[in-house]
Amino acid sequence: MLLEVLQFPDPALRVKAEPFKPGDVDESVRELAESMAETMYEEPGIGLAATQVGVAKRLVVMDLDWKEDGERRPRVLLNPEIVEREGEAVSEEEGCLSVPDFNADVERDARVRVVARTLDWEEVEFDVTGLESFCFQHEIDHLDGVLFIDRISRLKRDLYVRRRKKLLRREREETG
Ligand code: NI
Repeated sequence: MLLEVLQFPDPALRVKAEPFKPGDVDESVRELAESMAETMYEEPGIGLAATQVGVAKRLVVMDLDWKEDGERRPRVLLNPEIVEREGEAVSEEEGCLSVPDFNADVERDARVRVVARTLDWEEVEFDVTGLESFCFQHEIDHLDGVLFIDRISRLKRDLYVRRRKKLLRREREETG
């Protein structure tokens, strides 16, 4: 099932998501993960966090390798957590399905080590750099109610926020 991706400034994007406990993973969680993956491919995006579809649980789906019409192999992760971070890097032209019509360079950690759980509650670990590392940091930020525009200069953020509010105002006026 396709889900609606919430967009800035929806307050639900600012909620800090709750972790899963052992035994929490039931059919509804599996269905949510499946719908989130379907929504991610449809948009398309390379990652989606549950907070972006209005569910305040620590669940993300990611697929960095997917090409249009290619095989879909979404990575579904519960309670992803950065346990080690190292170095500085800049993710160029970072964007987000919840922050429409905007990209910016974002200062990130160059390398992160992430531990998480699968839907079968197996512990998995990732030691990643580059795009994969930026994607993990971006999605985990979502679970803490943080958007990439929080990590850019105030000037750039204010410009975007003003532009976005103006657009929403115009849309509201047009729909009466
Ligand atoms: Ni995002």
